[in-house]
Amino acid sequence: MSGMDAYSGLLELVKKRRTHRRFLPDPVPDEAITKIVDVARWAPSGFHTQSWEFVVVRKKDVKDKIVAVLEKYGPPIKNPAGETSGGSFRDAPVFIILFCDWRARAGLPAGARERDDLVANIFCSSMAGAFLYMHLAAASLGLASQWYSAAGGPDSEREIKKILGVPGPLKIYDMMALGYAAQPPAPKEVRSLEEMIHYDDCGLKDFRNDGEVAVYAEKTHA
Ligand SMILES: Cc1cc2nc3c(=O)[nH]c(=O)nc-3n(C[C@H](O)[C@H](O)[C@H](O)COP(=O)(O)O)c2cc1C
Repeated sequence: MSGMDAYSGLLELVKKRRTHRRFLPDPVPDEAITKIVDVARWAPSGFHTQSWEFVVVRKKDVKDKIVAVLEKYGPPIKNPAGETSGGSFRDAPVFIILFCDWRARAGLPAGARERDDLVANIFCSSMAGAFLYMHLAAASLGLASQWYSAAGGPDSEREIKKILGVPGPLKIYDMMALGYAAQPPAPKEVRSLEEMIHYDDCGLKDFRNDGEVAVYAEKTHA
């Protein structure tokens, strides 16, 4: 495959990946789940710590318990089209919860591993990369996914870990709801390339002013 073909394929996949908030109850083949995790394990991680663990939840009774926790602690989120996503993740046949094993901080260099703020930054970036790979893999397989962050809140995390029997040093990064889309996503508006690319000794004038930032934030605010 030429470099240009690879780039076009990547761009197409990146555009295809969207956040879905309505799912059909149709089951997802186990093979697809394995493929999604297989892609994620190739993600980069700070100092190659690979501190991720993936818990796949398929059993209805376990899912129901998690949904109950998230309904208790997770506020509904509206997307830019004003559509409420709260609760809709419950129809997805699979949840994949991405955990970070903080014991892996032992693999960070001295000077970093003792500092919670540095460890959190390194692990958060590593988890985000792996999680994004998961969503891209799901899209490549024609599946729909939702990035559900409320699962990582302190109350949700405590209760979800108890439900799953996950040990103390593992922390929830985020949860993916996975299934087949019940409806296509609304069109996505992205800021223009010209507006956000800056070169060399760029100055204040090259960046958005406070008013422009506020106008955009108003558009996307839930
Ligand atoms: C860090 C992060 C947290 C997110 N948390 C949620 C969430 O809890 N619920 C949800 O429906 N979408 C969540 N999203 C999805 C964003 O709302 C979505 O990516 C954004 O609106 C752009 O839409 P797109 O994913 O379809 O391109 C999250 C995305 C990121 C990167």
